[in-house]
Amino acid sequence: MKETIKQHFSERFGAAGVLYASAGRINLIGEHTDYNGGFVFPGAIDKVIMAEIKPNGTEKVRVYSVDIDEYAEFGLNEEDAPRQQWARYIFGVCREIIKRGGRVEGFDAVFAGNVPLGAGLSSSAALESCFAFALNDMFNDNKIDKFELAKIGQSTEHNYCGVNCGIMDQFASVFGKKDNLMRLDCRSLEYEYFPFKLDGYRLVLVDSKVKHELVDSPYNKRRASCEHVAKTLGVETLRDAELADLERVKDSISQEDYNRAKYVIEEKQRVLDVCDALQKGDYATVGDRMYKTHEGMSKLYEVSCVELDYLNDIAKECGVTGSRIMGGGFGGCTINLVKDELYDNFIATAKKKFSEKYGHEPQVYDVVVSDGAKKVED
Ligand code: GLA
Repeated sequence: MKETIKQHFSERFGAAGVLYASAGRINLIGEHTDYNGGFVFPGAIDKVIMAEIKPNGTEKVRVYSVDIDEYAEFGLNEEDAPRQQWARYIFGVCREIIKRGGRVEGFDAVFAGNVPLGAGLSSSAALESCFAFALNDMFNDNKIDKFELAKIGQSTEHNYCGVNCGIMDQFASVFGKKDNLMRLDCRSLEYEYFPFKLDGYRLVLVDSKVKHELVDSPYNKRRASCEHVAKTLGVETLRDAELADLERVKDSISQEDYNRAKYVIEEKQRVLDVCDALQKGDYATVGDRMYKTHEGMSKLYEVSCVELDYLNDIAKECGVTGSRIMGGGFGGCTINLVKDELYDNFIATAKKKFSEKYGHEPQVYDVVVSDGAKKVED
């Protein structure tokens, strides 16, 4: 990837720039909790977006995407928003830095990536974090702190891409550390690194390669449901609510909102359970909570789909310790905690059964927990 980027860069823009990269992420547990002030437990992975960047002395940004084979050019003022969606991520990052009083000058860039798109691995956060990190290094003497870099990516999603996401993906992409997962408290933003080493187990992603295009932003609707229940309860976010509180307002909210909030409140405890269990090497508990999360995401939060439910069933049948849909939902992959000796059979069975039913094989990725945003040595 590096050589391809460098070649395109020199052909289009001449003398070399500086290379930066930022990663996609996994999340062991804690889904749809970030925008509810809860806990998440992500890690960066060995799949990245990489960009070569160089100031060009003008007021324009000129970018080429190798994978999409498209070029975009835009100015740095609000009215200069590019029309291509992929370029809006970069434009958004520039604008959000400028809005915060940071500096961005014109630059040339070429980027490429190997974070699978639509798989729930946060390719967009990787793109945002790569550019936020790079522009901080290039124009701001690294004065913007890391949390602000994550928030710049998050605000880009809110203000330029229409997704009211939480902070998890950008946090993981910026703060990721090789061989470590991170437990983030999304209310206080305190975080802790957990060395991640499995003994006799493997963590594997099974990508259904389906992405259900859904109308009227179901992600934003889930968030609105949670905010509505929190408001009814008189708390800032569902982090501050317990199941007993929810029961008290049951009659004044819809069944749907009740279910959404129930899932979120239960998920809060599951993250804490998993962090604890992981430290003790108690994989049975980790796995149990993963299955419970899947069930909650499927039945209460309703962000799963038949293909992901089927992969979850196959995992159960194969004796996989833990399995669940990962990320925002409506497609993408399951994350699976599987004993070494069951791995081959699980993968073979998942491929066979899934392709018999849906006509294509799922894609399998072994999880390698890696570093987040960084400058790439030449
Ligand atoms: C997406 C969002 C995150 C988070 C997850 C669900 O990845 O970008 O902020 O809400 O969904 O946990």
